[in-house]
Amino acid sequence: MTEYTWFKLGGAARYFVEPRSEQELLDVVHRCHENSIDMYVLGRGSNLLVKDEGIDGVVFQLTHENFNKISFKDGLICAGAGVDLSRLVRECARKGLSGMECLAGIPGTVGGALKINAGGRFGDIGNVTQSVQLMDSSGYRFERERADIFFGYRMTNIMAKFILEAQFALVQDDPERIGRMLKEVWMLKKNSQPINSRNAGCVFKNPRAISAGALIDKTGLKGTTIGGVHVSRTHANFIIAEEGACSADVLKLIEVIRQRVHERFDVELELELEIW
Ligand code: EPU
Repeated sequence: MTEYTWFKLGGAARYFVEPRSEQELLDVVHRCHENSIDMYVLGRGSNLLVKDEGIDGVVFQLTHENFNKISFKDGLICAGAGVDLSRLVRECARKGLSGMECLAGIPGTVGGALKINAGGRFGDIGNVTQSVQLMDSSGYRFERERADIFFGYRMTNIMAKFILEAQFALVQDDPERIGRMLKEVWMLKKNSQPINSRNAGCVFKNPRAISAGALIDKTGLKGTTIGGVHVSRTHANFIIAEEGACSADVLKLIEVIRQRVHERFDVELELELEIW
């Protein structure tokens, strides 16, 4: 899975499937369901650590063009789960549609972003989501409307295995103003996060609105190295992987950080990073 994660770490997957249609996806899901094979859904691997031992199951990636369509109709934007989030943000800006600016610079797919309600200081994807089409692990396809979806801090109540597509409601605005906002959000990120390195974004959720990064920073752990990974010197909630790193190094460093923050602040840090 090294090719498929931003960390460029992780062992092999037993099966890797890129379905070309919903029907193909359904066929494989049925097979997995009948044979009790575990299913994993990969976005862009930008918030994911795969363990060195790999994955005994099927990894799905919705890369095919049938899962990568964006359409604009009646003030609603419809995007496939595999659509690159930054492409969606850009296309909305170009059309003078405002509401996605808070997602500038967040790597990943629409499906992945919905699953964890991706966002930042200025808002999250849940703010603009109208409806979502889903498929569960038995192959049942259904839809959830805005009123049925709960979006919290980096979480939703969407439990279905597959997000297929989603509709978003944005408001018309001046493309230049949207462009300026995108630039501003992007610059803030660029100045405070280690963007040109092998990392998976923030490793821990912010506990009760305190910055996990600030807490880790105060324990003096910036720069701490285990094997091929270290705590970023730019933002302490990022772990950076270097040549020779393995997933076990990341897991060990996560434990060191957790322990240190617990000892110093009596705070149990919760992972934002997904681990397979
Ligand atoms: N800070 C430090 N030292 C550090 C890091 C941060 O003192 O090493 C301080 C900053 O100076 C600032 C405060 O902590 O005063 C907050 O930092 P920042 O603005 O970077 O925000 P954050 O709470 O650490 C959150 C999200 C980021 C998102 C930014 C900006 C979480 C866990 N993190 O970070 O999301 O990009 O706000 O909107 O919610 C991610 O989810 O992967 C992610 C990177």
